[in-house]
Amino acid sequence: MSVTAIVGAQWGDEGKGRIIDYLAQQADVVIRFQGGDNAGHTVINDYGKHALHLIPSGIFNPKTTNIIGSGCVVNPQALLEEMAALEAANVRLDNLWISNRAQMVMPYHRTLDALEEAARGKDTIGTTKRGMGPAYADKAARSGLRLGDLLQPDWLEGRLDNALRTVNRKIEILGGDPVDGEELYALCMDFRAKLGQRIVDTMPLLRQALTAHQAILLEGQLGVMRDLDWGIYPYVTSSNPTAAFAASGAGLPARTIDRVVGVVKAYSTCVGDGPFPVELHDADGKKLRDIGGEYGATTGRPRRCGWFDGVAIHYAAWLNGMTGLAITKLDVLDQFDTLKICVGYELPDGSIVRDAMPDTPVLNLVKPVYEEWAGWQTSTESCRRWDDLPVAAQAYINRLSELANVKVDYVSVGPERDQMFEV
Ligand code: GDP
Ligand code: IMO
Ligand code: MG
Repeated sequence: MSVTAIVGAQWGDEGKGRIIDYLAQQADVVIRFQGGDNAGHTVINDYGKHALHLIPSGIFNPKTTNIIGSGCVVNPQALLEEMAALEAANVRLDNLWISNRAQMVMPYHRTLDALEEAARGKDTIGTTKRGMGPAYADKAARSGLRLGDLLQPDWLEGRLDNALRTVNRKIEILGGDPVDGEELYALCMDFRAKLGQRIVDTMPLLRQALTAHQAILLEGQLGVMRDLDWGIYPYVTSSNPTAAFAASGAGLPARTIDRVVGVVKAYSTCVGDGPFPVELHDADGKKLRDIGGEYGATTGRPRRCGWFDGVAIHYAAWLNGMTGLAITKLDVLDQFDTLKICVGYELPDGSIVRDAMPDTPVLNLVKPVYEEWAGWQTSTESCRRWDDLPVAAQAYINRLSELANVKVDYVSVGPERDQMFEV
């Protein structure tokens, strides 16, 4: 079959969860390949409405194996809470596995995330305060704890001692209370008892899946504009949501990826700080937020809203090597008489950039160049084929595809599982 990476093409919250839930009905394995419980992937299906944070969005399909990959940072406490919520909704979790190489987010990582944000003064990143930055920093500094460490208590004790030597100094410098090693060790033993049997070396499992030509989906978190290397640094997350990292974070050879689907909203949203050239502060921005229900799935923060950004999609499509687009939330535009699409950024010297992404300090100064498109002013919610869409909606989507230089594979017209179709 095939290996498909599903990645966010904008600033996150594009609707990755719902696309993966739909595609997972035909998939054997779904692997989350980066990020942690900063994610909020909303899925609506027969089990109700769930915002998934760590658990892959294929979990609602009992035959699908779901893996939290080695590229992720996992807060065991958050994972246990998420598992309990799903179990309460009768979702079966026997097919949920965690890579022994995934990093653990410890309670002190959340503490440090909050203290570091406070120390930034006016220059905040607007993080989700889920400990992502500090956990990935510890991974790179080689003082992180991994899920597999829970299975080796003696080794874990040494690793924890080692970590706390620097962690407690950092916390004290930033004005927090030091953490107690014995309490944390006891907490880890509790995690071991509750999660131990799900912590595995995922490599044999994935090798077997590839050999059997199974269908594998790689689930990304966030979007390219928040990528640690290619996003609006420093207003980024601390991992790489782009497809190039998918193989590594999932634990597959890079050349096995056959398809890269970029999930993209029919307009733009962004939550957190940093430049967002298409942001609207007017009635249209409010209308997009109200109709689109644009509030963070993890933090509840109102999302900043704007028109579709054609420069960002061009950049995202090339960088990810997208083979297809999944366009979501088309229905949110149903009530607009006119739509705008940003097709370039005007730089302070008057020149216009269309096919590159200016770096952050320059991006702060650009002005979007818009084209106007006619709206369709009719509901698309019950459309289930390309031909069902109003002609103006088809023209609008074709323009997005042209700007991305990538064909459209899927369109969604509502949040429910069946409110989408293949093009
Ligand atoms: P993710 O993080 O990329 O999975 O996206 P989020 O779940 O954070 O945000 C997407 C939001 O849009 C969720 O509330 C979804 O239920 C909703 N949604 C997804 N697709 C559609 C769609 O086609 N139409 C509408 N109206 N809502 C959608
Ligand atoms: P999903 O997977 C939207 C943003 C935060 C902040 C920046 C860094 O649901 O699309 P972090 O907590 O990762 O250190 O925050 O990234 N951010 C998200 N924005 N959707 C998300 O996840 C996000 N995860 C982090 O707002 O600007
Ligand atoms: Mg989200």
